[in-house]
Amino acid sequence: MKRYKIALIKGDGIGPEIIDEAVKVLDAVASCCDIDFSYEEALMGGCAYDITGDPLPQETIKISLNSDAVLFGAIGGEKWDNLPREKRPESGLLRFRKELGVYANLRPAVVYDELVNASSLKPEVVEGVDLMVVRELIGGIYFGEPKGRDENRGWNTMVYTREEIVRIAHEAFKIAMTRSKRVCSIDKANVLDVSQLWREVVTEVAKEYPEVELSHMYVDNAAMQLIRDPRQFDVMLTGNIFGDILSDEASMLSGSIGLLPSASVGAKIGVYEPIHGSAPDIAGQGIANPIATIASASMMLRYALGLSEAADKIDGAIKRALKEGYRTKDLAQYDAKEVCSTSEMGSIIANYAAK
Ligand code: IPM
Ligand code: MG
Repeated sequence: MKRYKIALIKGDGIGPEIIDEAVKVLDAVASCCDIDFSYEEALMGGCAYDITGDPLPQETIKISLNSDAVLFGAIGGEKWDNLPREKRPESGLLRFRKELGVYANLRPAVVYDELVNASSLKPEVVEGVDLMVVRELIGGIYFGEPKGRDENRGWNTMVYTREEIVRIAHEAFKIAMTRSKRVCSIDKANVLDVSQLWREVVTEVAKEYPEVELSHMYVDNAAMQLIRDPRQFDVMLTGNIFGDILSDEASMLSGSIGLLPSASVGAKIGVYEPIHGSAPDIAGQGIANPIATIASASMMLRYALGLSEAADKIDGAIKRALKEGYRTKDLAQYDAKEVCSTSEMGSIIANYAAK
């Protein structure tokens, strides 16, 4: 029997509800694939601040580094919006990423055939979309110095070193090798010095991957192309803030932000989380879509634990649930045969995954 230790960070808002469903599905595949998962919960975000005064207690980093992977729900909410910046849940998340060294954020955007009508774009534009945003996660303007503000000025610095660009570029090319072998690097090299370096370095790294076709695009054009013809993209490689924006945009191709998973990986341990936020407005009502978190658990099995058979079972179960017409409320108007709650959806997927 294979044993793995998973750190669970449920977080705020709908975080606990969706993590519970992912655990249900993990346990279902474990029982049929001769795997044993043990879980350790750790606090982060507003709930951690409420209990410990710190959105990222040291204990959480310790528990995470002691595990094989971290499964993460969501953090934040209005309740904590007026705290000083360093006490806010988001600051905890940024520190967490930095401390774990997860420099590569992988955000796939896939359009499920069953939900091709749920997109706000025409079905003929989004049908078959399958792209991956590879976002640099612990550098760029999010972390650059100097930064600060006074009464009349606020400033941040967008900075990338050669080394930071090299490692994220390798990640993108390696992923492209397992997909359609196309990387589009996105920058603003017509305006920004940091982007000129980015473009130069990515072009150099590309020489080590002769099979991969590299193109470059300015970020404003990329935002437009994503809506005009999203199928042109395979891997989109980009920096922290451009990737933040483009991955939200890409997520809407699929019809609901409640569907898409992500992985943040680096030298140490990986963090697997839905790309959506904590949705405090619907927390506790049992209507959140758990699919993004369940799909994140599947990415965790595939990328962190090498359990691709179990991951395939989960992915297949998600597709089957959608195909049979099960929908949570966010997707209720798209060919639903039955509208189900968060926990019903988790149970349906768990049942299919166990078969
Ligand atoms: C994300 C989020 C975070 C980010 C916030 C909550 C700090 O938007 O993961 O995309 O900007 O990275
Ligand atoms: Mg974001």
